[in-house]
Amino acid sequence: MNILFLDQSGHLGGAELSLADVAESHRDRCLVGLFADGPFRAHLEKRSIPNTVLVHNTIQIKRSSGWIHSLSQTYFLLPCILQVAKLARSYDLIYANTQKALVIGGLASRLACRPLVYHLRDILSAEHFSTANRFIAIKIANYCASLVLANSEATRSAFIAAGGQPNITQVVYNGFIPEQYQIDADSTNQLKHQLGLKDDQFIVGHFSRLSPWKGQHVLLKALAKCPEQIVTLLVGDALFGEQEYVQQLQQQVIDLGLENRVHFLGFRSDVPQLMAVCDLIAHTSIAPEPFGRVIVEGMLCDRPVIATRAGGATELIESGKTGWMCTPNDADQLAAKILYCYHHPCQTAAIAHEGKRQASQRFNLQFTNQVIDQHLDSVLQQSQKISPLRKAMPSNTLFNQSTF
Ligand code: UDP
Ligand code: GLC
Repeated sequence: MNILFLDQSGHLGGAELSLADVAESHRDRCLVGLFADGPFRAHLEKRSIPNTVLVHNTIQIKRSSGWIHSLSQTYFLLPCILQVAKLARSYDLIYANTQKALVIGGLASRLACRPLVYHLRDILSAEHFSTANRFIAIKIANYCASLVLANSEATRSAFIAAGGQPNITQVVYNGFIPEQYQIDADSTNQLKHQLGLKDDQFIVGHFSRLSPWKGQHVLLKALAKCPEQIVTLLVGDALFGEQEYVQQLQQQVIDLGLENRVHFLGFRSDVPQLMAVCDLIAHTSIAPEPFGRVIVEGMLCDRPVIATRAGGATELIESGKTGWMCTPNDADQLAAKILYCYHHPCQTAAIAHEGKRQASQRFNLQFTNQVIDQHLDSVLQQSQKISPLRKAMPSNTLFNQSTF
């Protein structure tokens, strides 16, 4: 099966890392079309996944864009839609991984008569998207997609609540390679000392882009309520123009007198190694997290994880058994949980082991990719039933490439 994957971002976010894991298993017969250049393209190159940048101008629709802005920008997307439609004729299926990819891929799929699969990685609620953006996404998904793969039950429910068709959705959790999260003690100690961390410190790691809804400020508030030897690593950078939030966090560190206890490490590509350095991983999103790769990654690293009780995160952790959950935006509760872990290392280690055991079984990339492939096969079979001519001819010879 030849697949044209589409993603709007040049950055390396969770959606992009997850897409790379899916695309890698199709790398002999796929293309990842991007709507921006950047580190994601470099990541695909490194993994020998064929890719191309389709548009070089940034698409100006934001999550908060209103009706007039969103619709006027859709007009400017026309050349890109035609470009994707033309390209799609050499592929069996279009696989849109983000919302802008859905808009472009959805309309292109209609023009090119190719089935569209939408991997929905966002919670389509008012907390995350404007009414206009939700409306457009739902209409295009309902009208164009043969299948919507949701990254959690929470994501699927929000899609349906916003008007999405239930019968085209399937939940598929993200998959991971557990072996990539087994880090030896020697390199962990080395990294710890490179980072200037002391052996008697209790290290709370936070791994995420710096963004208000990811709630790093809540962790800083909680840290201020904990003893001095509890310190934190903030791993990640502002990816989507949220530089102001970074400044706010830096100011908060000064205001709370935490200068010696908070390490801003910026974006790193050695997340498993850094997680191994930590005694605890905190996830603090204040809006519902669609899935939360970092939660599973922390579990796979055999580290106790505290996550906020909202969205897909509630499907990843069984509180008190495989990790802990606390109320979003509640620094007191978070501080209490951190202190519990600090004072009860044996109980905490037992929870971390159980978390690792369950995460290795439930979120295995091999299984995830098998399930996705089965879904894609049935979409393709279904579409060939509808237009049997396509079955008889190879995808790249069916249409005259020069029609557009
Ligand atoms: N990540 C990374 N380097 C960093 C910070 C985060 O590689 O400095 C990775 C992290 O390991 C995870 C992903 O980025 O795999 C973030 O995905 P998640 O689903 O947690 O959140 P998203 O940012 O996609 O909402
Ligand atoms: C999105 C979501 C995140 C999820 C990731 C991968 O970036 O924000 O929660 O883990 O996609 O599906």
